[in-house]
Amino acid sequence: MEKIRKNTGRIGVLCSGGDAPGMNACIRSVVRTAYRYKAEVIGIRNGFQGMIADDVLPLSLRSVGNIIQRGGTILGTSRSKEFFTRDGRRRAYQNLERLGIDQLVVLGGDGSMNGAAELSKEFSIKVVGVPCTIDNDLEGTDFSIGFHTAVETAVQSIDKIRDTADSHGRVFLIEVMGKNTGHIALETALACGAEYAVVPEERFKLSALVKKIEAGVRRGKTGSIVIVSEKAKPGYVLELAESLAPKISVDVRTMILGHLQRGGSPASFDRNLASRFGAMAVELLQKSKTRVMTGIRCDRMQAVPFSHIVGRKKPASTDVLELIDSLSV
Ligand code: F6P
Repeated sequence: MEKIRKNTGRIGVLCSGGDAPGMNACIRSVVRTAYRYKAEVIGIRNGFQGMIADDVLPLSLRSVGNIIQRGGTILGTSRSKEFFTRDGRRRAYQNLERLGIDQLVVLGGDGSMNGAAELSKEFSIKVVGVPCTIDNDLEGTDFSIGFHTAVETAVQSIDKIRDTADSHGRVFLIEVMGKNTGHIALETALACGAEYAVVPEERFKLSALVKKIEAGVRRGKTGSIVIVSEKAKPGYVLELAESLAPKISVDVRTMILGHLQRGGSPASFDRNLASRFGAMAVELLQKSKTRVMTGIRCDRMQAVPFSHIVGRKKPASTDVLELIDSLSV
């Protein structure tokens, strides 16, 4: 492997789990902040799986140029099953040790933070996590990298659906991602003036949805938008449409936004959050902080211990459901 230059430490950086827009901006920030501290950065390809396979590349200042605006991740990512075995982690650590990587920055969601926590518990390596997930479901931070962009992408798509829904007087049930939480669904529903939102945090009553749609029809509404969170089971919206269609007087159509929400150029909010989190991760490592994730709470940056995150999920606040309802009369 090409030697970059003399350094005061070797930082490995990887992306794990589902990609999130803003990951590249974060990688750029890690590399360029490390440069300030004279530390070398090694990129690990395809997440924890690449760590096991010893698939790495040196990241120079120039190698992260012109990526701040790019979606996806230049490093690739994976959901590694092998890393969740003790043997997988041991092999991964042995590779890091041989490469002289003594610090690690892990970009990812809840599963990735679990993996990072396990590795840092079992082996002598400093690990800092950076929350990157469109789901925004990580405890300890108000926002994760990628969330704002995903919501923006969903809103732009739904605005288009609204045109055809209105022209035909139809109800559109639109499924958004979010796994077990409704952060994307609620934020999107409010932003596109949806009539209703179905989220895992609130018990769903078909009769309430029927009532809302029929009341709209009586008031002369030309179309309705219902945002449905996938509830950890992509395709849930199809079941819902089947139960709803015979109970209402207007046509029902469905749409699953799916992976569209994970792609595209990151919004400025995500680029900036990524730039801040990437720099913070390196600074924490320089201060020998480990087993923490970068976070932001009420506009203040904070280091959140892995112990506070692992095994927990941040539910979406359902207070906004009332506002969605009252503004869509
Ligand atoms: O965690 C991010 C996420 O996009 C979820 O919203 C979704 O349920 C899941 O990943 C999809 O995963 P995959 O890309 O492996 O199908």
